[in-house]
Amino acid sequence: MARSRPGILLSVAALAVAAVAALAPAPVAATKYNITKILAPYKEYSKFNEMLSKTRLAYDINRRQTITVLAVDNSAMSALDHYSLQTIRHILSLHVLVDYYGDKKLKKLAHGATASSSMFQATGSASGMSGYVNITRKDGKVSFMTEDADDTAKPSRYVKSVKEYPYDIAVLQVSSIISSAEAEAPVPAPAPVDLVELLSKRYCKSFASLLSADAEAFRAANESKDNGLTLFCPVDSAVASFAATYKNLTAKAKTAILLYHAVPDYFSLQLLKSNNGMVTTLATASEKKMDYSYDVKNKDETVTLQTRVVTSSVTATVGDMEPLAVYAVDKFLQPKELFKVVEAPAPAPEPSSKKKKAGRGGGDDDDDSSDDSTADAEKGDAAPALLARWVVTAAAAAVAAYALI
Ligand SMILES: *[C@@H]1O[C@H](CO)[C@@H](O)[C@H](O)[C@H]1NC(C)=O
Ligand SMILES: *[C@@H]1O[C@H](CO)[C@@H](O)[C@H](O)[C@H]1NC(C)=O
Ligand SMILES: *[C@@H]1O[C@H](CO)[C@@H](O)[C@H](O)[C@H]1NC(C)=O
Ligand SMILES: *[C@@H]1O[C@H](CO)[C@@H](O)[C@H](O)[C@H]1NC(C)=O
Repeated sequence: MARSRPGILLSVAALAVAAVAALAPAPVAATKYNITKILAPYKEYSKFNEMLSKTRLAYDINRRQTITVLAVDNSAMSALDHYSLQTIRHILSLHVLVDYYGDKKLKKLAHGATASSSMFQATGSASGMSGYVNITRKDGKVSFMTEDADDTAKPSRYVKSVKEYPYDIAVLQVSSIISSAEAEAPVPAPAPVDLVELLSKRYCKSFASLLSADAEAFRAANESKDNGLTLFCPVDSAVASFAATYKNLTAKAKTAILLYHAVPDYFSLQLLKSNNGMVTTLATASEKKMDYSYDVKNKDETVTLQTRVVTSSVTATVGDMEPLAVYAVDKFLQPKELFKVVEAPAPAPEPSSKKKKAGRGGGDDDDDSSDDSTADAEKGDAAPALLARWVVTAAAAAVAAYALI
């Protein structure tokens, strides 16, 4: 499936100096490092690398900062052969420590021992201390072992440092798979998610009907749900108050506006609450010449989606089952590509010329990718040039929030 640029939250932390700054229209990656890429040159870890991708752990690793990945070579990976993908995910998540341990730090381990929380701990699948990894240094040798390992367990030895980017990510080689009874426990394969059923269960029954009635939009959303998808579904009352307008849209615009509610990336609520930035949507991917993005902003504990036409707030989590997240929102999202932009009170509203009119000029719908709705849809104001004038207040809060994820 063609997944062009996935919607990625754009951190505006760097804009500390400017109180007001224009948000760049192109989304940029929030993370600096890509574990798949870091490991790619090392053929001896190719199986480990492949499983990080298959289990989607690579994705989780890339979203974090201050992390240590304990890689094993291809022969050591054979210890995982008989496990299901879900179980392998649990076991490998023990190999991702949520702290930075470079070679130097390991060799200077205070008191010769420490316990580090792993990503297995962070998944919530681990009970008690089973998600912790003990790191011990004895006779100059460093070894890793799960905190709750029994006496018969063989520690995994530190072999060498593979790559370090202090203090963001360290990749180390260890001699064998670190495991625990708990991580090895069989995990039932996740039941396939029925999108319509999920949406219908809480808050979004009406939106579910709209989605299932539109074959193209449904197919796109359904296909994306296993590869990272965040769906913002308007609650039933929001769909009701938008119904008349929706009915007036062309079939093409209906599909676009439904896809506009789907962001092709997984965002936990915590991630949404700790970042401000622009997301692109499935409509962006399907309507090549159109933008179909919006700003995700958080204020206090509220996440808002600002399309420049409407501001909609996240009111509830309908389902969070990575890689799929569904959140209820209180207003139907209206893209600037289809509706009249409501200008933010700009500091210097220069009396604009007739340029705008000239831009769309004779304004016939000759653009074949246009989603122009029916006769009375307000179009002229949706020219992309306006984007540059959209000013946002840089939120200071975005800075260190990653540490929490
Ligand atoms: C990470 O790197 C791999 C291999 O170079 C690439 O296929 C993948 O798209 C990258 N992921 C991101 C999020 O950039
Ligand atoms: C891990 O360390 C803790 C104390 O930090 C200790 O109680 C526990 O027994 C250790 N586990 C193993 C398997 O060595
Ligand atoms: C939705 O996707 C699932 C795979 O996740 C597939 O089994 C199912 O047939 C799809 N539903 C429709 C109606 O296409
Ligand atoms: C829908 O279109 C009709 C006919 O063009 C118009 O009279 C009506 O006001 C429109 N309704 C909405 C909610 O846009």
